[in-house]
Amino acid sequence: MKRKGLSALLMIALISMCTLYAGGLYRQKASSRILVAYFSATGTTETLAEYAADILDADLYEIEPEVPYTEADLAYYTDCRADREQRDAAARPRIRGRVEDMSKYDTVVIAHPIWHGQAPRIISTFLESYDFSGKTLVSFCTSHSSPLGSSAASLRRHLPSDVSWLESRRFARGASRAEMESWLDSIGLEAEEKVGQFDFDSRTVLLNSGYRMPIMGLGTYALDHDSCVNSVVSLLENGGRLIDTAYMYGNERAVGEGVRMAMERFGIPREDIFVITKIYPSQFDRPEAAIEMALEKLDIGYIDMLLLHHPGRGDVKAYRAMERYVDEGRIHSLGLSNFYVRELEEFLPQVRIAPALVQNEIHPYYQERDVVPFIQEKGIVVQCWYPLGGRGYTGKLLGDETIRRIARSHGVSSAQTILRWDLQRGIVVIPGSSNPEHIKENLDLFDFELTEAEMEMIEKLDRGEKHDWY
Ligand SMILES: NC(=O)c1ccc[n+]([C@@H]2O[C@H](COP(=O)([O-])OP(=O)(O)OC[C@H]3O[C@@H](n4cnc5c(N)ncnc54)[C@H](OP(=O)(O)O)[C@@H]3O)[C@@H](O)[C@H]2O)c1
Ligand SMILES: Cc1cc2nc3c(=O)[nH]c(=O)nc-3n(C[C@H](O)[C@H](O)[C@H](O)COP(=O)(O)O)c2cc1C
Repeated sequence: MKRKGLSALLMIALISMCTLYAGGLYRQKASSRILVAYFSATGTTETLAEYAADILDADLYEIEPEVPYTEADLAYYTDCRADREQRDAAARPRIRGRVEDMSKYDTVVIAHPIWHGQAPRIISTFLESYDFSGKTLVSFCTSHSSPLGSSAASLRRHLPSDVSWLESRRFARGASRAEMESWLDSIGLEAEEKVGQFDFDSRTVLLNSGYRMPIMGLGTYALDHDSCVNSVVSLLENGGRLIDTAYMYGNERAVGEGVRMAMERFGIPREDIFVITKIYPSQFDRPEAAIEMALEKLDIGYIDMLLLHHPGRGDVKAYRAMERYVDEGRIHSLGLSNFYVRELEEFLPQVRIAPALVQNEIHPYYQERDVVPFIQEKGIVVQCWYPLGGRGYTGKLLGDETIRRIARSHGVSSAQTILRWDLQRGIVVIPGSSNPEHIKENLDLFDFELTEAEMEMIEKLDRGEKHDWY
């Protein structure tokens, strides 16, 4: 899975959702790398800037003059303050406050009214206050009747030559959101993809580590060597790309063998495959040895994701060792398993690299409806183990009358219904199977969709029934 170049700092940005910044109103969103900065004296531009920020999921910043414009200041053609400023090419009205961290934006949209055919001088103050080198910029304006004219070209002259300037646009008062959307689309601006958001087209999710992970795959618990190799090969042959194993399952060698075999047989590039393994609490006192062993057993170059299998004595120390392997590139992403609210609250402040994933027991009879949003709101992806209830319980779950009824109405199996329910909750699934037919079926989750009512019917099956102790 390819890196998208997100920094670890992104995680911090992600957690801070709405920030009121000294000076202009500054609404900062999770992980946005687009800024819409606007000046608006009478509110026309503001409405459109809000549309743009909303469409682009961008941060919104109001360029506020230190000395606000009064009605008299704006009474144009009366030699008012605004008239005088526009006549004076050197006028630079001062701005209250600053954009907190301009370096985090790669694209800046500037919005302003037209004053005597040009952008108000305060826009020049704004452009001269930051280093826009290497960024993409574009402006839009609102006016009573004047066209864009030379206003955008004049702004462009304030900027370094390596700024990529897109085609500007003038909007009339009352322009619609749809008009804004279509202009942004025409210049190729679109919302940033969000960490943790499932992309049902590529069937992947972007992790806070910058890597993409498939949203459905294979669990290998209880699979012996040969059936594990077969299952892994079968998964990869049928388009699956995510495999979950653990030191404790005793089958990391088999997973590695299956991966290498399928890469060779089907020409699948290594970076398209995502392997998760875990170190067990009994290994926490010597984490480096545990990681080296996992790398050696898997023998697939690097580990896509390493989890702590459970909380336990020495877990922070073990995780810090895992962080060092991330620094070296031998592990790509980190995660936790069997961590709930209290465990996470205690653990997270002690580590440097935020976990990208938490893997917990979740199925219709044990839904973790409090824990799941707690984790997801932190930009951490949730993955479920025992999605079908786990061995010994699958009969009960797959035979559940509510699930069977929903499954029948979509012409799919109970297993597919449960797995689809997880995906629609934003939970990654790794059903275990030694049966190629089941493996194929468990990947086939994208030609139907559960309705809200069906999601709620399954939600009602929750009975806090845990099928394992951790
Ligand atoms: N982090 C942890 O502490 C932890 C704990 C437990 C599990 N896990 C992980 O989570 C994965 C999933 O859990 P699990 O494998 O134990 O339990 P599971 O996925 O809930 O259930 C596996 C059982 O379901 C059956 N099955 C799979 N697909 C089916 C289908 N389409 N129709 C009917 N039956 C089907 C399998 O039988 P067949 O073999 O016949 O298909 C197998 O007996 C594990 O493999 C492991 O990777 C993690
Ligand atoms: C000082 C001043 C000069 C203006 N000059 C023009 C102009 O040259 N052409 C025009 O069509 N509108 C002009 N207008 C009108 C504004 O561009 C228009 O009302 C704009 O949409 C206001 O945006 P706002 O509500 O975001 O401040 C001017 C307004 C002011 C206050």
